[in-house]
Amino acid sequence: MILIKDGTIVTADRMERADVVIEAGRIAAVVPDSRSGDGLDRQAFERRGARIIDARGHWVMPGGIDTHTHLAHPIDRLRVTTADDFHTGTVAAACGGVTAIVDFSLQRRGESMLHARDRRLSEIEPDAIIDYSFHTIVTDVREDVMDEIPILIDDGFPSFKVYMTYGDKIVDDAGLLRLLEVGGSNGGLVYAHCENDCAVTWLIERHLAAGKTGPAFHAPSRPPEVEAEATQRAIMLARLVDAPLCIAHVTSAGAARHVAEARAAGAPVVAETCPQYLVLDDSVYDAEGGFEVAKFVCSPPMRTADHRDALWDALAAGSIQQVSSDHAPFRYHDQKVAGRDDFTRIPNGLPGIETRLPLLFTYGVKTGKISPQRFVELAATNPARIFGLHPCKGTLDVGADADLIVVDPDAEVEIDAAALHSAVDYSPFQGMRAGGFPTWTLSRGEVIVDRGEPVAARGRGRRAERRRITAATLP
Ligand code: URP
Ligand code: ZN
Ligand code: ZN
Repeated sequence: MILIKDGTIVTADRMERADVVIEAGRIAAVVPDSRSGDGLDRQAFERRGARIIDARGHWVMPGGIDTHTHLAHPIDRLRVTTADDFHTGTVAAACGGVTAIVDFSLQRRGESMLHARDRRLSEIEPDAIIDYSFHTIVTDVREDVMDEIPILIDDGFPSFKVYMTYGDKIVDDAGLLRLLEVGGSNGGLVYAHCENDCAVTWLIERHLAAGKTGPAFHAPSRPPEVEAEATQRAIMLARLVDAPLCIAHVTSAGAARHVAEARAAGAPVVAETCPQYLVLDDSVYDAEGGFEVAKFVCSPPMRTADHRDALWDALAAGSIQQVSSDHAPFRYHDQKVAGRDDFTRIPNGLPGIETRLPLLFTYGVKTGKISPQRFVELAATNPARIFGLHPCKGTLDVGADADLIVVDPDAEVEIDAAALHSAVDYSPFQGMRAGGFPTWTLSRGEVIVDRGEPVAARGRGRRAERRRITAATLP
């Protein structure tokens, strides 16, 4: 038994002084001071053998849920795998206040999604220290593969990722439409990376043909228009078959507007953005930076400050419902450098699993752009709702998994890659100030980060239970 004493609980709908009691890995009671006077009797709990966590001056919140991570993720085209495995990646997650991830299982062309599932589970199970699940990346929309969709949903894997770009993984409009139809009618959610592949391919060729091969040319080969068009197309296809849809990593005002319009018309469309699009801008692609610019090569790329501001507005207004990391870490010194002579050979992606909550807290809550409750909603409750982990996860309700973080809202550090726990050799946020790192992280009632130090046994994470996803379950 654990008693978290004298903290301020923050959930998606309330913020108040309260004590939290944990028993058998679940939230057993949340007792506000207003009901108990001075809180629960510490000595009585000590006599019963409870561990007491003194949370005075701290906020107690549901653990973050990161539904967009790429751990041990192979990029076949470049013969490279992301730098974090499920051990280093989930340790970094826990130290950044994350208690569950939804990663990816890659169905290669010609492969069964069930084989991909089994392979992925065998990679995760020995290593993860927090609870996990995955989306199936569908690259081959064959009819025998569509028959596997209800099986995967029954098995607790109700989300399916589609890339509208990337040669070896792309699904065309016909495939996307069929997947939306079969997924949507079985309680599944399609999760789409939206960029117009034809336009991106054309722009890349134009840049390379003009000798524009450096990393700074990555961004102009994927402008906001290609994202906005593909976002609108994915939404239109989903609406044709009344299927729910989640748009991955929205980075631009145009894409955010298409999501907002669809939602205003009643369509079950949700969207995420990521901290890199909220706290960085396209100045990171200044060619003066030389090859170091490769550290910021991700797709879609960072945008101008106007787009960044539009994303904050969309978060505050509710038209974007969650913030994920899109943690896709590639080491600079021996992985990003593969694209030294050709920016298309730089593996796309940034590390961010450990800094997601701190950046959203610091640049969202501390600046007054979002409330503490909205912070919890964006980082934990809505990701759980969108991807079917709610109500086991993403809340502090009695009966929920005791996945929570205890954070000193006044503590702040300077982000330094050397102090983070990922196996990557840089941080795109190096030198930025950030608070919101957890003092304690608990997973199913077990302290896995103790005063900032990871203490969990490798492989203790479990498969997260997930439910069907429908228009009615989406925020
Ligand atoms: O650049 C990125 N985001 N890489 C990870 C793969 C993806 O696009 O989700
Ligand atoms: Zn993507
Ligand atoms: Zn991604």
